[in-house]
Amino acid sequence: MPNENKQCGHYQKLCAVLEKNENYQKFKVYAEHILALSNNSLEKTIAIAVALCLVCAVLVSLAAVALKPLQINNKELDMKQNILDVAGLLEEGKDIDAAFAEKIEAKIVDLETGDYVESINAADYDQRKAAKDPAQSIAIPKDKDIAHIRIKAKYAKVFLVKEAGAIKSIILPINGYGLWSTLYGFLSVDADGQTVQSINFYDQAETPGLGGEVVNPNWRALWKGKKIYAETDTNEPTLSLIKGVVDNSKPGAQYQVDGLAGATLTSTGVTNLIRYWTSKEGFAPYLSKVRTVKGAKS
Ligand SMILES: Cc1cc2nc3c(=O)[nH]c(=O)nc-3n(C[C@H](O)[C@H](O)[C@H](O)COP(=O)(O)O)c2cc1C
Repeated sequence: MPNENKQCGHYQKLCAVLEKNENYQKFKVYAEHILALSNNSLEKTIAIAVALCLVCAVLVSLAAVALKPLQINNKELDMKQNILDVAGLLEEGKDIDAAFAEKIEAKIVDLETGDYVESINAADYDQRKAAKDPAQSIAIPKDKDIAHIRIKAKYAKVFLVKEAGAIKSIILPINGYGLWSTLYGFLSVDADGQTVQSINFYDQAETPGLGGEVVNPNWRALWKGKKIYAETDTNEPTLSLIKGVVDNSKPGAQYQVDGLAGATLTSTGVTNLIRYWTSKEGFAPYLSKVRTVKGAKS
């Protein structure tokens, strides 16, 4: 057939291989048999439907494989954007990759000792993945699991914002259960290891307008300047969400944040996850070393 020869002109090598293939020849004979059948034939209808499904499946698979690198890149970019946001460094119109590379340094922290782990390349480390790997994670005893996460990675990935070589802020990954979902976010803390700069939840499925208000910029702004620990004890976190609005004239207001209206259960979840990740089980050993500067030197 002239048309077929013309097409084969473009893919000569492929055509030559196919022409020699016994199964391809059988397929060609069967295809010709099917196409010669009447349009009302049940065999033709089924064969065309199966062929269509196969073509669609191949197209979807190809699209999934081809788009995978783009998806991974977008995910990384989104994470960098969240980190810049909680660090207060997100500027509209600025290149996210460049801003991140310029201002943020990722480090791996051993949660038990609070020391940096230099043997792991921070760029390749995925803490959420590590938490699912029994070799890289620790089961949390029930009585200590106030954030209801059951398991945690041994090593955490923190992000440092430095200015003139000195740490300006520390961004800690946090997660814990709310009402409907596990909330994942970042808590940005001053170099004093005590004062909150900002909070940001980038992955959660609480009800929009209720628990989902954790992403509301007005609520997030209430966290700035709050203190994690009481001055007298930097091991036991004191910060919590309260029901209603914080009265700033009352003592202890620096350890309190307004609870989310109509979402007491999510609010309790947020208190618990903050307390967990700033306790001895979480970043307390690291923050204590940051405070003394010596242990946190990078
Ligand atoms: C459809 C629906 C969705 C809800 N979503 C949330 C939520 O995301 N977070 C939350 O804490 N409470 C949520 N609640 C309310 C809780 O069931 C519970 O009543 C509330 O946490 C109590 O908070 P309050 O004492 O501030 O009213 C939801 C209730 C309903 C009916």
